[in-house]
Amino acid sequence: MNDSKSLRSRIAKTVRDIPRSGIRDFFEIVSAREDVISLGIGEPDFVTPWHIREAASLALDRGVTSYTSNMGLLSLRRGISKYVANKTGITYRPEDEVLVTVGVSEGLDLAIRALIEPGDEVLYHEPSYVSYNPIVAFAHGKAVAIATKKENGFRLTRAELEAQVSPKTKVLLLNYPNNPTGAILTQKDVEEIATFAIEHDLIVLTDEIYDELTYDREHFSLISVPGMRERTIYLHGFSKAWAMTGFRMGFTCAPPELTEAMMKIHQYTMLCAPILSQEASIEALKHADKDIAYMKAEYKKRRNFIHSSFEAMGIPCIRPEGAFYAFADVSKFGMTAKEFALKLLDDENVACVPGTAFGACGEGFIRCSYATSFDHIKEAMVRIARFIEKL
Ligand SMILES: Cc1ncc(COP(=O)(O)O)c(C=O)c1O
Repeated sequence: MNDSKSLRSRIAKTVRDIPRSGIRDFFEIVSAREDVISLGIGEPDFVTPWHIREAASLALDRGVTSYTSNMGLLSLRRGISKYVANKTGITYRPEDEVLVTVGVSEGLDLAIRALIEPGDEVLYHEPSYVSYNPIVAFAHGKAVAIATKKENGFRLTRAELEAQVSPKTKVLLLNYPNNPTGAILTQKDVEEIATFAIEHDLIVLTDEIYDELTYDREHFSLISVPGMRERTIYLHGFSKAWAMTGFRMGFTCAPPELTEAMMKIHQYTMLCAPILSQEASIEALKHADKDIAYMKAEYKKRRNFIHSSFEAMGIPCIRPEGAFYAFADVSKFGMTAKEFALKLLDDENVACVPGTAFGACGEGFIRCSYATSFDHIKEAMVRIARFIEKL
């Protein structure tokens, strides 16, 4: 009964059938080695700004250790509502349209579970964040991937959407600025996608976790397009721009019916987000503009350097306009992305993530995160140049 084969056979099929994240597998190999320069992690190298940490520790000193309302502290929801209104021009009621979640990860899961019934289709674009496909499968839905193209700068087009939509499509899931390509959309792109969603009567989930991190022009949010607020779940969080990954703080903004549905799942499965992290996030929304501007300026310098280094090496790479990743095309070296990444690790101790971790169309690419120090990036570029010279 308790041999591992028998135990494995009892695991739900949907879970059994889903492979582990390619990133995780790769980083188990990396963690077994010493002196690796890692361009692999999708996490800021900055420590959370001190005043945000201080807000959490002062709250702890005051004995703030309880549950909160399932929806999150009202003062935080008010801050979120104000933040989103400033960014997008769209106002959500803190009372019943803002839900505080445990990272955007939980928000995504809640949104999919609240909407998807067995067989419903979710359109999303690849290369994409690793959780999109699995969370749809866990909800017994069908994730339909649209392969975006390097020629279009990995921007999703209306024609690509029209080619994949079906009567079973219920949800469109978007992520711009994009992980892993660094692509962002123009206002025109966003308006075309919005028109498509309205014409096909879809609910849209828009994961805008990187909205602060754009380097050449401002991000334009999907919810700013007339007619989208009423059919969209807007997802955002504190992990990236505020460097608060470990606080595990995210939020959703959506019409009350959708918020209530997500809240029900959240209430029975998570109860609430941690109160100390909520206290820290109140401070983050009030006083971190300068911190964000500083980190963003640093990322921009690194973005410029990593992009021009790849170009100088003859490795094509679209100029990443947002997030903190460069998605470099290494297909001309005659290896799969995984072979390239493993050989680079073996020969030069530089870790990056094979593009296939983000969907099949990532074949031939590697994702290099520039959320690591300038010195590390410089050294990694020297090593990559030496590596390809020998190929
Ligand atoms: C596009 C995207 N969405 C969501 C997440 C998850 O973020 P969180 O830390 O808020 O759960 C990530 C993390 O890398 C991401 O890149």
